[in-house]
Amino acid sequence: MKLFQRNFRILKNWSAYTLTDLAKIAKEIVSISSEIPTIWLFRGQMGAGKTTLIKEICKKLGVEHSVQSPTFSLVNEYQTKNAERIFHFDLYRLKNTQEALSIGIEDYLDSGNICLIEWPEQAEELWNIPHTTFRLSLNNEQTRNLEMIW
Ligand SMILES: Nc1ncnc2c1ncn2[C@@H]1O[C@H](COP(=O)(O)OP(=O)(O)O)[C@@H](O)[C@H]1O
Ligand SMILES: [Mg+2]
Repeated sequence: MKLFQRNFRILKNWSAYTLTDLAKIAKEIVSISSEIPTIWLFRGQMGAGKTTLIKEICKKLGVEHSVQSPTFSLVNEYQTKNAERIFHFDLYRLKNTQEALSIGIEDYLDSGNICLIEWPEQAEELWNIPHTTFRLSLNNEQTRNLEMIW
């Protein structure tokens, strides 16, 4: 197994952001997307705002159709206006890492396309590769905190 070692650092951090702040945050994230690993892990409890943030990021990446967490499969595919492909995973219902491997998750991860991944905790063995982490936490009913790390 190839070892992936580096010092993680917080790239950016937003505290107590509201839904109205999201468009600006997503724009900032997308503006540096070419400088960070394409595998984006979204960590944070249920209701922290992972899907909400992903929707806004997709909008800024130029996805025009609706973005929703995949429910019937592990992954949704979106196309941007520039015909780039984006993959959106929700691993919440994953039983184990093997199940992810059996749907060919490694091919998606290696594709070079941006992969937005909710509940990466369900398959920690997979993230031994360069990735960007978005750590979300609840502040109160209307506000959230976000750290972007890689
Ligand atoms: N500042 C905020 N950022 C994101 N979501 C917020 C915020 N304030 C309130 N919410 C609400 O919290 C919920 C977050 O849900 P969702 O994005 O589905 O979370 P997750 O995918 O982490 O389970 C949504 O109903 C959203 O409207
Ligand atoms: Mg979600």
